[in-house]
Amino acid sequence: MNPKMKPETTPGQPGYIAHAEHTALELPTPLILRYTPNERSNHWVTAITFVLLALSGLALFHPSMSWLAALFGGGQWTRILHPFAGVVMFVSFAFLVLRFWHHNLLEPGDVQWLKQIDDVLANREEKLPPVGRYNAGQKLLFFTLIICMLGLLLSGFVIWRAYFAFYFPIPLIRAAALLHAICAFVLIMGIIIHIYAGLWIKGSMGAMVRGSVTYGWARKHHPRWFNDVVKKK
Ligand code: HEM
Repeated sequence: MNPKMKPETTPGQPGYIAHAEHTALELPTPLILRYTPNERSNHWVTAITFVLLALSGLALFHPSMSWLAALFGGGQWTRILHPFAGVVMFVSFAFLVLRFWHHNLLEPGDVQWLKQIDDVLANREEKLPPVGRYNAGQKLLFFTLIICMLGLLLSGFVIWRAYFAFYFPIPLIRAAALLHAICAFVLIMGIIIHIYAGLWIKGSMGAMVRGSVTYGWARKHHPRWFNDVVKKK
């Protein structure tokens, strides 16, 4: 091991790890903690229920995808399980929103970041306004997800035949079915972009799997957040 990298346990020394929020942790390697275990569990419950919902929803949506129902024990079970899984995803996502909303508020530099989207796509990050904990793209996706989730929840209750649909007139049920499909489409597209971005920016998956990121990752992709964390040290 390089002696210069030898972990220290005192604040202010190399190897001392500041928590992204307000506490400080000591870890054996120079990493920054980006997500706590609770935040990660919350995220992955949301992600797993999302995948189950996308597959079961597509099975219900069109006969060409009805073969997916076999994954859930057949058509009847798919129809029974899908709305309950939807409620689990909504509740889990609501906790995620409560944890992260204050990091996703738009700031003046965000508009400039969006105007320079060509620099973002060409990896010219040094030309962009310094990004905080999340960039403008992540923030816009965050609010798109909230709108889709609310649309899915409300329309989902209206079309939930077993318990609620008989309270509503048929034209409203039809409109709700359309809204449900539109929100699901936007959500699935949004999450495909979200996963692609997570894979594209090397080191981001580690943030959501292990919880930590390297100093280099933080300084390159989120320099303002990095400075905040280092200052707190
Ligand atoms: C299905 C596979 C998914 C993968 C591989 C994935 C991956 C990731 C990664 C790598 C991050 C960390 C990004 C960073 O720290 O900069 C993240 C953050 C996040 N993810 Fe996911 N995710 C998935 C699904 C979802 C779903 C279904 C939702 C909600 C509907 C979601 C909501 C979030 C939120 C809210 C954040 C924090 C970013 C913010 O607040 O703007 N993710 N995800």
